[in-house]
Amino acid sequence: MSILSVHNLSKRYAWRASGFKMKYKWAVDDVSFDIAPREIVAIVGESGSGKTTLARCLLRLIPADHGSVLFENQDIFTLDRSALRQLRPSMQMIFQHPGRALNPRHTVGQTLTEALQVHRDISETGCRAEALRLLDRVGLNASYWHRHPSELSGGQQQRVVIARALSTQPRFLIADEPTSSLDAMVRQKIMVLLDELTKARHMTLLIITHDIRTASHYANRIGVMQQGKLIEMQPTQELLSAPQHEYTHQLIAHAFATPETIDQHELALERETQ
Ligand SMILES: Nc1ncnc2c1ncn2[C@@H]1O[C@H](COP(=O)(O)OP(=O)(O)OP(=O)(O)O)[C@@H](O)[C@H]1O
Ligand SMILES: [Mg+2]
Repeated sequence: MSILSVHNLSKRYAWRASGFKMKYKWAVDDVSFDIAPREIVAIVGESGSGKTTLARCLLRLIPADHGSVLFENQDIFTLDRSALRQLRPSMQMIFQHPGRALNPRHTVGQTLTEALQVHRDISETGCRAEALRLLDRVGLNASYWHRHPSELSGGQQQRVVIARALSTQPRFLIADEPTSSLDAMVRQKIMVLLDELTKARHMTLLIITHDIRTASHYANRIGVMQQGKLIEMQPTQELLSAPQHEYTHQLIAHAFATPETIDQHELALERETQ
């Protein structure tokens, strides 16, 4: 039983070469995989390998050229607009730059109450209480309610983005490089938060990252993308100990060659005391 089932997914972009001649590049090339409910799966690959394009196709934020995506057995590419609108709250995405994902004119409170009102039939008092509960869940207290994004650090902005994504009670979350704009310590804290929330809320998480080492701390399985192709996907420990491809081997060797900035033991302790 899969929550997400991807079959032969391909997406190409057109670009103008010399003169008027159009050329095409396959950003996602015949990708197939499945995700089981409550799994944490990571897709890793270097810049330009097609990770974001894949994520956007999976949520039908952009149209794919070939293939299908089944979410809870529904083919999302064949849904009409109203069926898709109904499904949207169940599938949420967290983007790389939290600052860009938030409306600069809206306070934290406005951002969360608006998100709650769009997708849920909820009273004004209930909405405020729920928004405060979400804020608390991502580690921010009520004093942040009246702040604008410019009055928050990058890590705090990403916490608000995560709270907003949770407001629709999604069953499936895609986090596309959720921490790449943050410094090392904040990066780890946000990853720990995502990991905890995924487990506590019985969600399924697809993490997209160029960092196989971070992926290996959180994911049950890791898929590797290279030039649009998913060249392999294996349970994390198997992938680390017996990569099938030379490219994966290089990614692992490179990622584990340098000492980690953050002590994982320290983080594990922090996680236990939270
Ligand atoms: N809107 C677009 N129009 C044309 N080409 C695009 C577009 N978006 C992405 N591409 C190209 O598609 C390929 C895959 O891009 P994509 O953004 O999916 O990669 P990525 O793995 O997410 O990279 P990064 O790690 O830098 O975020 C790249 O060659 C990119 O230049
Ligand atoms: Mg990307």
